[in-house]
Amino acid sequence: MDQTITTSAPAKLILCGEHAVVYGRPAIALPLPGIRARVTLSDGVPGSGVVVDARDLGRRWTLAETPDDPLSQLATDLLARFDLGSAPDLLIMIESDIPIASGMGSGAAVASALVRALARRSGHEPAPAQVSDLVYQSERRLHGTPSGIDNTVIAFEQPIWFVRALPSGTQPDANPTTQNSTPNTQNLISPLAIATPLRLLIGDTGLRSATHEPVGAVRRGWQADPARYEPLFDAVAGIAIQVRALLAAGDVPALGPLLDENHTLLQEIGVSSPELDRLVVAARQGGALGAKLSGAGWGGVMLALVTDATSAAVAEALRAAGAVRVLETTVG
Ligand code: PMV
Repeated sequence: MDQTITTSAPAKLILCGEHAVVYGRPAIALPLPGIRARVTLSDGVPGSGVVVDARDLGRRWTLAETPDDPLSQLATDLLARFDLGSAPDLLIMIESDIPIASGMGSGAAVASALVRALARRSGHEPAPAQVSDLVYQSERRLHGTPSGIDNTVIAFEQPIWFVRALPSGTQPDANPTTQNSTPNTQNLISPLAIATPLRLLIGDTGLRSATHEPVGAVRRGWQADPARYEPLFDAVAGIAIQVRALLAAGDVPALGPLLDENHTLLQEIGVSSPELDRLVVAARQGGALGAKLSGAGWGGVMLALVTDATSAAVAEALRAAGAVRVLETTVG
């Protein structure tokens, strides 16, 4: 009997605190429930083994042929973990509305949906913390030393305050092999209160950026000159603390200047780009309350905080400044 299973997971947006979060400072991340990745699992043709069909990537492959692909590795681990046999005849279809390599968590969302689908096939409904941990292992293969914020906000699908637990006695990311195997369980993760919904526009530069590149550049910069980077990370942390208080109080207008300030700090950290800066400036000139890059930077997306009255004009300004797409979302 064919047992078709469909699961999904949302995109995410980092409101503030990216990069500094890798160094143990707090960050705030939001799920975007309307923008999702989906996995559909069905019986494969007898003898096919596990076939992955990722239409949006224009790719179809088998686990046997491409075992080193990070998604193949995750699927192989999950088949073992959920006792599904090493090479069942299975078709894994992946579809996603989330722009790839743009700071919106596309990889973590696909991985979360895959964990849920394979778990369900074996009769399990995994808790968000388990999904998050399994996705984290997969993200490490891709990004080396992710903070864990992406897998957490996507697996829990709620706005979070996130503080990464740093391995004791080690410098953050200096030696990833010294991290314990399930660092997610040590992180501080709190649901975030948002008293007044936030209206956000997401402007996509259209430039794809592999997270590990800017993250690696920051790490090299920090290793060479910690005295320059530590105060920048502390300043980002100070913003995150203020943003959390304003979200709880429902003071949306006061958030704008803090987002602007966070963008300036990210420029100083060295992860913005001319394209991101152009969109950020255009959003402010178009009437946004504040704007900043979101995610790893060097491309990908930026966010603008808008109101009902300014949303259309800001979207227009973003398109005129080169945004290849503008998404709108309300959070909280
Ligand atoms: O994957 P992105 O583009 O959302 O970036 C992740 C956020 C960083 O703080 C830059 C890295 C991390 O692991 O937290």
